[in-house]
Amino acid sequence: MVNIVIEKVETEDQFQHVMPRLQDILFSAYEQFPEYGVEDEQEAHRYLWWLYKADPTGMFLAYIGGEIAGFIASHSQWWDKYIGMFVGEVHEISVDSRFHGVGVGSRLMQVAESYFMESGRTVAGLWVGIKNNGAIRFYEKRGYVRAEIKGPWLRMRKYLGGHRGG
Ligand SMILES: CC(C)(COP(=O)(O)OP(=O)(O)OC[C@H]1O[C@@H](n2cnc3c(N)ncnc32)[C@H](O)[C@@H]1OP(=O)(O)O)[C@@H](O)C(=O)NCCC(=O)NCCS
Repeated sequence: MVNIVIEKVETEDQFQHVMPRLQDILFSAYEQFPEYGVEDEQEAHRYLWWLYKADPTGMFLAYIGGEIAGFIASHSQWWDKYIGMFVGEVHEISVDSRFHGVGVGSRLMQVAESYFMESGRTVAGLWVGIKNNGAIRFYEKRGYVRAEIKGPWLRMRKYLGGHRGG
């Protein structure tokens, strides 16, 4: 079994330091689905900063052998207008294609969901590309159900437990 170490991004300096690696991961992760990924380095840069600033305590890195293999950008208090409540939002999860299928994505989802529950959320949500069948299956296996469709995006949600309405 591969040893996966999860680390939270603690400071803006740390984020800035790992940014170039996160950019590479974004490009690698979406190789098969460029329409759902970022177009160029400038867009990747802007997108990653947006992700970090949206919730600076919601970014987690997964290391394998000292190398960042994947990351998740989550938000602990995101307004879900479709259901009229704050949810924990998975804004982005990306795993370097060299490390797909060894459990990195699963660990990152677990960490984000724990973060949401610690923050008092009872529901997790995300948008996924409607043709991204691999990712949709991945989420369904982890308890997410299909909800709204908006353009090329499918909304999925998972009930995390606890009292509804938080
Ligand atoms: C979706 C994604 C995050 C999953 O990450 P991962 O680290 O491969 O996930 P895991 O290894 O925990 O699980 C992948 C599942 O696919 C299976 N699998 C086997 N070989 C695989 C491979 N080569 N690639 C991907 N998955 C594989 C795993 O066994 C596992 O099956 P399970 O669902 O029955 O447990 C990753 O594929 C990815 O970065 N995709 C591109 C970016 C993306 O689409 N992000 C989601 C946007 S909303």
